[in-house]
Amino acid sequence: MSARMGHLMPKYRISSSARFQLEGAIGVFDSGVGGLSVLRAIRAALPYEHLVYVADSGHAPYGDQSETYITQRTLTVGHWLAEQGVKAITIACNTATVVAAKTLREQTHLPVVAIEPAIKPAVALTRSGVVGVLATRQTVQSASVARLVEVHGGDKRILLQACPGLVELVERADLHSADAEDLLRQLVKPLLAEGVDTLVLGCTHYPFLRDIIQRLAGPDVVLLDPAQAVARELTRRLADHGGLSVQTEPGHVQFFTSGDVGQAQSVMSHLWNEPLTVHALP
Ligand code: DGL
Repeated sequence: MSARMGHLMPKYRISSSARFQLEGAIGVFDSGVGGLSVLRAIRAALPYEHLVYVADSGHAPYGDQSETYITQRTLTVGHWLAEQGVKAITIACNTATVVAAKTLREQTHLPVVAIEPAIKPAVALTRSGVVGVLATRQTVQSASVARLVEVHGGDKRILLQACPGLVELVERADLHSADAEDLLRQLVKPLLAEGVDTLVLGCTHYPFLRDIIQRLAGPDVVLLDPAQAVARELTRRLADHGGLSVQTEPGHVQFFTSGDVGQAQSVMSHLWNEPLTVHALP
C-alpha cells in the first residue's frame, strides 16, 4: 500500500458502510472478541467518545498464523477504520502489535495506540524475581517481546508461556468450564512451580479468564492487564492533538465482526455485559 491511509479517506462515502456514522470515532480492533477487555477500559476513561470496535473473528486466532498473514489482516482492518474517518486507532491485540504495529504506523497519519505485554511493570512488581507471561505463540516468539525482556528484564527471570487454545475458549464464551480450567492448569502450574509471583496477561482475550487464572495461581500472585494503561495513553495522545471530544452526552459504541454475526452478537453481548448489535464488517 503506497498511499498513506488518511489520504485515502473519501469525503463522502457511497459504500454500504456509509449508513454507519463512524467519522470522528476512535477505532479499536482485535483478532476477535478479546479486545473488548481494552474497549471497556477506554469506555470508562473516555465516556463521551464515539467508539467503533472490530472483532476480526473470521480470521482468529492470529497467534497461530504467519507474520505475513497477521500483518495483512492488521493493515486491512486498520485501512478500513481509516477509510471510515476514525480519529485514532487502538490495536487491542498484543499479537497484532508485536508483529504489525510498526507497519501500520508507517501507513497512516492517524495516532496508533497499541497494547503490548506488561513486562516492564511486572519486573517492577515481582518480589520473587520470577515473572510469567501468558501470550499467543506469535507473541512469545516475537522480536518485540525479546526486546522488552532485554530492555526491562534486568536480573529477573521472565518465563514466556505460549497458550494455544485459550483464544478459542473466549471466542465461544467458554469462561468457566472444566475444560477451560484443565487447560489453564496445564499452562499456569509449571510457571508457579518455577516461583512466578507475577503473571502478565499478554493477550487481550485472557482477562476474560481471569477468575480461573487467579484461582489456580492463588491470591498472592499478581495478574497484570495493561488495558487501563492503554486507555490512559490513548487519552494523552488525543489530548496532545486537541482531539478529545467536546460532547457532554455519552458517545455511542458500534460493533463489527468479520466472523459469524449471530455468534458474535451472543458472545460479545455476554462479554460486554449488555445486549448489543453487531454488524458484518462490510
Ligand atoms: N487478543 C489477541 C492478543 O492480544 C489474541 C490473538 C489471537 O487471535 O491469537 O494477542
